[in-house]
Amino acid sequence: MTRRAIISGTGSALPRTCVTNEELAERVDTTDEWIRERTGITMRYIAEHDELTSTLAIDASRRALEAANMQASDIDLIIVATATPDQTFPATATKVQAALGNHGCTAFDVAAVCSGFLYAMQVVDSMIRANSATNALVIGSETFSRILDWEDRTTCVLFGDGAGAVVLSAQDDAGDNTGILACQMHADGRHHDLLYVDGGPSTTKTVGKLRMKGREVFRHAVVNLAEVMRETLAQAGLSLADIDWVVPHQANARILDATARKLGLKAEQVVVTVDKHANTSAASVPLALDTAIRDGRIKRGDILVLEAMGGGFTWGACIVRY
Ligand code: UT7
Repeated sequence: MTRRAIISGTGSALPRTCVTNEELAERVDTTDEWIRERTGITMRYIAEHDELTSTLAIDASRRALEAANMQASDIDLIIVATATPDQTFPATATKVQAALGNHGCTAFDVAAVCSGFLYAMQVVDSMIRANSATNALVIGSETFSRILDWEDRTTCVLFGDGAGAVVLSAQDDAGDNTGILACQMHADGRHHDLLYVDGGPSTTKTVGKLRMKGREVFRHAVVNLAEVMRETLAQAGLSLADIDWVVPHQANARILDATARKLGLKAEQVVVTVDKHANTSAASVPLALDTAIRDGRIKRGDILVLEAMGGGFTWGACIVRY
């Protein structure tokens, strides 16, 4: 009997305040034209003081639970993927757990930056297959606006805040090949200084600010993402022709185009939300997934490839039949 992790509900949450490129250009030495042409971004949401990584995660989780027709008490595993936790510890997942009114289930955070949600999906997939979890809430939530250097125009225009959540449930006879079919995660720590935060408790005792060598990250992203998508498809016994939708990490519209072109996929098969959300790191894949499910693009039975690449470097892909 095959036991698989199926998607039973999704949800997402954005901060109240939207900042357009034009508004940003009043504070930062940049232009709407530059941001649009180089990244495809037109706007992003920025958290107010009362909006935290945990509160965005809680809102997204409530929506995912509602979509799954479940109560918080049905959940036995909560994972939050984030690089911007409310505090260094405890895990943001425990704050989400308490707010939802679930007491006692396993709850922890995963830190793999922009690939964090994909890493968390693989952990949930393994735990569900091993009978260690039945209904898991896996969340990507970030407030990157808090770690941006607003004086550095090469990075601060690229990111936004938000959260996405997915309820993954065990299905004991997934004979119809539904749910997570394959996951491949990678890391190469030799490149840690191409995308990192210049602070931390054990180094500077400060939170630090995001630093990135954008051009080099771009180059690695296209190569690594195309490779890991092929590898994951092979693991699932599928080919590129079987893909209905790519739900990518939303870093830059040009990375999405270049990766699709490299694999021979059509631009219409790629879910794009970077124009409205900018790069929300670990939140970007579940945010894009929820958007395309709610607007009716992604339908039950569709084959999805979720993929991401980020600081570390870390990267990975997941194949799911929705
Ligand atoms: O989520 C993790 C993964 N992250 C990514 O995947 C990011 C990957 N990298 C990228 O998306 C792109 O490399 C960027 C969007 C960050 C930059 O695009 P680029 O085409 O690689 O531009 P560049 O860094 O080579 O800069 C080109 C020019 C420079 O001026 P000069 O030296 O040619 O005179 C920059 O100073 O653009 C200038 N520039 C800006 N101008 C106006 C850089 N940032 C800005 C800005 N506004 N915000």
